[in-house]
Amino acid sequence: MKFNMTYVTLGNLITAAALVWMTGCGGSSRPAESSGAPEEEYTPPVYTIGMSQCNLGEPWRVQMNADIKAAADEQEQLTVIFKDAQNDTLKQRAHIEEFVGAGVDLILVSPKEAQPLTEPVAKAFKAGIPVIVLDRALLGGDFNCFIGADNVKIGKAAGAWIAGQIEEDARIVELKGLMTSVPGQDRHNGFVEGLGGKGEVIFEADMKWLEPEARKEMDSALARFDDIDVVYAHNDPGAHGAYLAAKAAGREKEILFVGVDALPHEGVAYVAQDILDATFQYPTGGQEAIEAAQKILAGIPVEKQIVLGSRVFTKDNLDRGGEAL
Ligand code: FRU
Repeated sequence: MKFNMTYVTLGNLITAAALVWMTGCGGSSRPAESSGAPEEEYTPPVYTIGMSQCNLGEPWRVQMNADIKAAADEQEQLTVIFKDAQNDTLKQRAHIEEFVGAGVDLILVSPKEAQPLTEPVAKAFKAGIPVIVLDRALLGGDFNCFIGADNVKIGKAAGAWIAGQIEEDARIVELKGLMTSVPGQDRHNGFVEGLGGKGEVIFEADMKWLEPEARKEMDSALARFDDIDVVYAHNDPGAHGAYLAAKAAGREKEILFVGVDALPHEGVAYVAQDILDATFQYPTGGQEAIEAAQKILAGIPVEKQIVLGSRVFTKDNLDRGGEAL
């Protein structure tokens, strides 16, 4: 039976937490022995969450950590330890092992890549530590819960939006996110489907989610092709990097730029400034991660996959706060 993800009141949580506490699972507080002595006042257990972020070089990841922190700060019983893997897979694998060694109560992880992080996460999960995976999926199912938006749907919507703006023979540049990460693969597959055969992708490159890489790749595309009509980048830093390259070549006005993420102070601001033509929101899931963590720690089941919604922002709908996909 699927668990209905409705709002859980603090009362419910405390009751459930008390149950977990009384049966001796989770948390670091221990109940007093009941020996006929007057009952002690109930103290909710205190939980430590380890959060491994794959890097903090992009505004979106800084925002995810801020969202996690803001949600956790509202809960007295939660402490979050943040670690930054600085885009290094080996460092991130070590984070998971360090969290297991330290005996944290729950692990949050936003992995850099699917394959190399699958094994350490599965080990932690099998050792009894609950794990919530955020934004970039892993292989297999050895974790409690995955939280992220539907990247195929986002890619498809971007493709369909672009198809609606271009001529049959339009020339497209696709700047992909890291193709060893699932969102990169999904945003590409969805895009091809959404384009529905319209236009031609004349240049594609893996810019690894990074603005400087995207700028470099776009320099090459501009040098090779005199006509470029559209850039679809798998994230807003990528789209911005491509825009800067085109601007330096004096060609930004002839090209549509489309990205993904739509942070208010990044992609949405770029649309307002006429830098991007469209951006598709990729919510960080930080708040939902803490909500799910609280439930898991209280022994309440959560769905294995929590799919977040997305919105598209263009010049035409900015004043309405974008439009839901
Ligand atoms: C940040 C980021 C976002 C993107 C997400 C995909 O590292 O590249 O821009 O939407 O990761 O996992």
